[in-house]
Amino acid sequence: MREQWLKRWREGRIGFHLAQTHPALVRHWKALEVPRRAKILVPLCGKSLDMRWLSELGHPVLGVELAPEAIEQFLAQRSGEISRYHQAGFDIARQGSVELWQGDFFHLHIRQVDEVEAFYDRASLIALPPATRQRYALHLAQLVPPRAKGLLISLQHCDDDAGPPYSVSQEEIDELFMPNFRLAKLEEGAPDERGFVESVWALERRGPLT
Ligand SMILES: C[S@@+](CC[C@H](N)C(=O)[O-])C[C@H]1O[C@@H](n2cnc3c(N)ncnc32)[C@H](O)[C@@H]1O
Repeated sequence: MREQWLKRWREGRIGFHLAQTHPALVRHWKALEVPRRAKILVPLCGKSLDMRWLSELGHPVLGVELAPEAIEQFLAQRSGEISRYHQAGFDIARQGSVELWQGDFFHLHIRQVDEVEAFYDRASLIALPPATRQRYALHLAQLVPPRAKGLLISLQHCDDDAGPPYSVSQEEIDELFMPNFRLAKLEEGAPDERGFVESVWALERRGPLT
């Protein structure tokens, strides 16, 4: 899977990338009432412009992404100074208040994200095959502190086996996140021309992990 993502980025097959901030982020983020200076973890971040939007609201952003191309393309959109360093297997580039960690999200350790207070997932959970989604939900719960809030933008379509993007049902979202998060569905869109239906969820990390 890892190799497939790297190949997609090398070949520019990134149909998932949006040329604008995701409208659901703009509609729902403020209602989460995440404090303005809270640092936001963005797993599997690609070169999403949503990170710029969050940083322009005042949030420091920590994005994690496998593909170096994604990170370089994100940085190239702006002329701001870039500082680079290396930490525990990740190549890190910082531009303004956005830090991009190049490496595997599953290798990120809680010590490395101890300032994170909230998270944002658009097309991250649905990028992962079924067996890995369980691991993702638990890893996310381990990385963020109790009461951390987050927005999840997920997707359903009619072929359960095809992906990415994988179809993730409401039942699966409940199963994955309910043990460690309070969960509220904020909206479900109309099917697009491919029959893809996006849903938007507010999450809040519960107390001790289960
Ligand atoms: C469907 S894209 C979504 C990107 C971004 N969230 C967006 O909204 O545009 C999934 C991204 O996750 C990256 N990715 C896949 N597995 C990863 C992993 N284990 N660690 C970090 N990044 C990963 C891929 O390279 C790809 O850029």
